[in-house]
Amino acid sequence: MSERFTKGMARNIYYGGGMFFMLLFIGLTFDTVVAIPERENRDQLTAEVAHGKELWEKNNCVGCHSLLGEGAYFAPELGNVFPRRGGDNEEAFHAYFSAWMAAQPIPVEGRRKMPQFNLTAEETRALSQFLIWTSRIDTNDWPPNNEG
Ligand code: HEC
Repeated sequence: MSERFTKGMARNIYYGGGMFFMLLFIGLTFDTVVAIPERENRDQLTAEVAHGKELWEKNNCVGCHSLLGEGAYFAPELGNVFPRRGGDNEEAFHAYFSAWMAAQPIPVEGRRKMPQFNLTAEETRALSQFLIWTSRIDTNDWPPNNEG
């Protein structure tokens, strides 16, 4: 066996390593694509949930909030606001959410403000349905902290 590190050895490491990680990448991609339908909660996607998502975008909630980690970090994460404030009870959450949206902005000095969006009752319900739906996506219990 040669003591020297030859060009041939370098080439084998390059191609062998490249091939190994390419196969690993393809395998993990395949695993993800297979797992997504079981995790994404697609069968619960109603027209009302879709309408809530439109309102979420139109009102730029994501400009201050994050949703499952995506978005801005000015205001609390909302991917888990349903278990946090509704305790897994849809009607309790809806009551909380309507009251919350109606009460903005809360006039407390030094507290970060959320704007008043003047949503209709129907729009508020659609947004709360969207947040409930989002919280049921299987994210491996992420985010780990329920508060925020
Ligand atoms: C300009 C920034 C901003 C925008 C835009 C915004 N929010 Fe907020 N939101 C906040 C802030 C700040 C808080 C925390 C306020 C507080 O604790 O008093 C908050 C809190 C909340 C809470 C309560 C969270 C909890 O843990 O109790 C909900 C629900 C919420 N926002 C929903 C929405 C929705 C839905 C939209 C879009 C229609 C939206 N927000 C848009 C700033 C924003």
